[in-house]
Amino acid sequence: MLTAGTGRRPELSSMADDYARYALSQRAAFEATHPAVLATARMFADEPVLRVADLGAADGVNSHGLIRDLAQERAGRPLIYTLVDLPTNTWGVAADHLRQTFGGAANGSGVVVIPASDDDRPGVADDGKGAHYASPEANGDACGRAFEHSPRPAVAISMAGIPLQQAPCLPPGSVHVAVTGTAMHWIADSGGLASTGSVFPGYPDHVDEAERQAWRVAAARQWERLLEMRAMELAPGGRFIAALPASAGPGPERQGPYAELVRTMNQILAEWRSGGRIGAATAAAVVVPVWMRTLDEIRAPFEMGGGRIAGLELESAELFRLDNPYWDDNPAVFARRYVRSVSAWGRPLLLRAFAREGYDRAHGLLADFLGELEQRIADAPDRYRWDYIEALVVCRKAAGSGRDTGQAMSQENLALARTVVAAFNRRDVPALAEMVTDDFQWITWTGTVQPTTYHGAEGIASYFRDSDVWEVLNLEVQEYRDLGDEVLVVGMFHARGGGSGVEIHAPYYSAFFMSGGKLARVLSFRTEAEALAAVEQRE
Ligand SMILES: C[S@@+](CC[C@H](N)C(=O)[O-])C[C@H]1O[C@@H](n2cnc3c(N)ncnc32)[C@H](O)[C@@H]1O
Repeated sequence: MLTAGTGRRPELSSMADDYARYALSQRAAFEATHPAVLATARMFADEPVLRVADLGAADGVNSHGLIRDLAQERAGRPLIYTLVDLPTNTWGVAADHLRQTFGGAANGSGVVVIPASDDDRPGVADDGKGAHYASPEANGDACGRAFEHSPRPAVAISMAGIPLQQAPCLPPGSVHVAVTGTAMHWIADSGGLASTGSVFPGYPDHVDEAERQAWRVAAARQWERLLEMRAMELAPGGRFIAALPASAGPGPERQGPYAELVRTMNQILAEWRSGGRIGAATAAAVVVPVWMRTLDEIRAPFEMGGGRIAGLELESAELFRLDNPYWDDNPAVFARRYVRSVSAWGRPLLLRAFAREGYDRAHGLLADFLGELEQRIADAPDRYRWDYIEALVVCRKAAGSGRDTGQAMSQENLALARTVVAAFNRRDVPALAEMVTDDFQWITWTGTVQPTTYHGAEGIASYFRDSDVWEVLNLEVQEYRDLGDEVLVVGMFHARGGGSGVEIHAPYYSAFFMSGGKLARVLSFRTEAEALAAVEQRE
């Protein structure tokens, strides 16, 4: 069941400030996408503005080469390049790197980086790590405005803090190329899942089949959502091009990137645990929320949809292997560099886990752990040489016959319904306000004795004020049913009173009425028949 923020592991943490210095494997994997990205840009050469989305861009340094190549390809014609990552990404660091590398439109370079750090317009957010756009609409509007300046810039680079599984990064149908490197193996909402015995779930030391199955299901759901959001943001004929860490085979031999390294990490943790140096809970807390998909898992949503998901067609999916970019003939040098690269992404996670032994011990344990890891790598460097397996995936958004357009609309409605429910479960009023029409109407019994009607964005805010007494407020959805312009959302509504402890677990049937890519009306019922009848009578 979905619960808001109750997982024992925090959500994905953002990368360290010096991420790119130790992200050579990520750079090499991202570069594998570039030929397809440039070829697609050429296909759209006649577009007045080319829009490229870089999904999971971290501090953006590994993207600078692609931005430069695309700008050259466009030869002065407008290019929008949007960096997308979590709202908590180090946006200030990304902006500094971009401005240092590309300058600003003001100094005549023709490149503008938005939003400015002091931009406080609606739609710009800052979670303490730097300004970014918080919604596809705000991102899209600002990118459009960027070209209204005189002299007109050639390139607008925007930064958007939008979780990739929750929403498109720019308004629907506007992106020509969505590209991603080493991001889509992260599994959101996996805080409650265990990976006993292995730092990476699904790897050979992770022997508990029930646990593995839970990860498999979460990863499949996440992949579907990631694809649906790409289908939504892409323009007809646009491409989604992904390099993602992958696995050559399914369990129990799932052997993705870092297979040897993870085996060594697991060994050290197991030895420390059996020697009494750390407790079982600490060892269990060292879990990286990732799933290395096999090609079959990558292809599954397309195959289930008869070759398409949400209008997105799979053109190719293949595995490739990277030589370890930290390799050096001197084993000590190799081991030191390799472990540094691991600590660039693993340090916060390891530190958080070791803090279970007491904050005063955490840093010492981390230093010893990394030291031991380095020593073991230096003792047998060849084992780690080919430790990177990646998949290169290319998909294309179908270029819409009438029927395709209808199907794509339905898929967009389904994706919107999912996004709305996710925002509801987060009690995310600003996100919901972005997704509804101006005359939005919500008729619901939840949180009140009588059915109540809420109007517009203000109505959403007042619903959550009315519901403040509920400590838990959660929609657990079993089905999103496509009814054309409407979506039937079927599931269970769960609530628990903060002071009272009173619990509600009620069947939930809601008709979501869509209009122009937004949610126009929600009617909630206790039975399916009532909900379907409401859809029948919509006029
Ligand atoms: C390993 S870095 C890769 C950065 C860059 N693409 C590269 O190739 O060097 C992965 C980035 O993806 C982001 N990421 C992973 N899952 C995400 C999600 N669901 N939504 C937004 N960002 C995500 C992480 O926050 C992180 O910054």
